[in-house]
Amino acid sequence: MLLNETPLFEPSLLLELDWSSNPLSFSPPISPASPGEGLVLRPLCTADFNRGFFKVLSQLTQTGDVTPEQFTKKFEHMKQTGDYYVVVVEDTHLGQIVATATLITEHKFIHSCAQRGRVEEVVVSDVCRGKQLGKLLVSALTLLSKKLNCYKITLECAPNNVAFYQKFGYVSSHETYMQCRFST
Ligand SMILES: CC(C)(COP(=O)(O)OP(=O)(O)OC[C@H]1O[C@@H](n2cnc3c(N)ncnc32)[C@H](O)[C@@H]1OP(=O)(O)O)[C@@H](O)C(=O)NCCC(=O)NCCS
Repeated sequence: MLLNETPLFEPSLLLELDWSSNPLSFSPPISPASPGEGLVLRPLCTADFNRGFFKVLSQLTQTGDVTPEQFTKKFEHMKQTGDYYVVVVEDTHLGQIVATATLITEHKFIHSCAQRGRVEEVVVSDVCRGKQLGKLLVSALTLLSKKLNCYKITLECAPNNVAFYQKFGYVSSHETYMQCRFST
């Protein structure tokens, strides 16, 4: 199966974010258009399968043994719905993905047929942590959700990451996160 560079979503969405409205400061000043020397922030493409995309995800959770065919099929499904914004940071010198995060938009009948955003799978490769990439990804997806007219954006995280997300304006909810798990 052919892996290629077709982006999951329109790349200009990231480049046209109103970065000046980002409440966080970056030192040195990086942005979606300039994430750092040798780095590119862009939508996921299927060629990222061979650039260590799953190696980065595996630092977050179990990924399973995914074949290129399974990956491509899932990618096509996500692309078709138009609701999946998986972004990656690529180290272009190494040709490797070093960070990723996902925004999903969920459609509602409530709030005048509104939509909300969900942040999922935020992970920076352990060798690249502490270089503002996590901050860049979450800032970009939070601004993107606003641009996409989401009325709110939510995420679930481990207690040790609460302080990280508070930087972006996320606050702990009084609601309890519940789940019913059918497999690991
Ligand atoms: C959490 C994670 C994404 C942060 O990415 P990172 O690139 O290392 O973080 P950054 O360099 O962008 O740090 C941004 C700021 O957050 C702070 N920070 C980083 N991780 C933090 C944490 N767990 N708790 C509180 N603050 C944190 C940094 O000190 C920095 O502060 P500053 O802006 O005041 O200097 C990364 O550590 C990671 O991938 N962890 C493993 C996977 C994970 O837990 N993902 C989150 C799932 S919900």
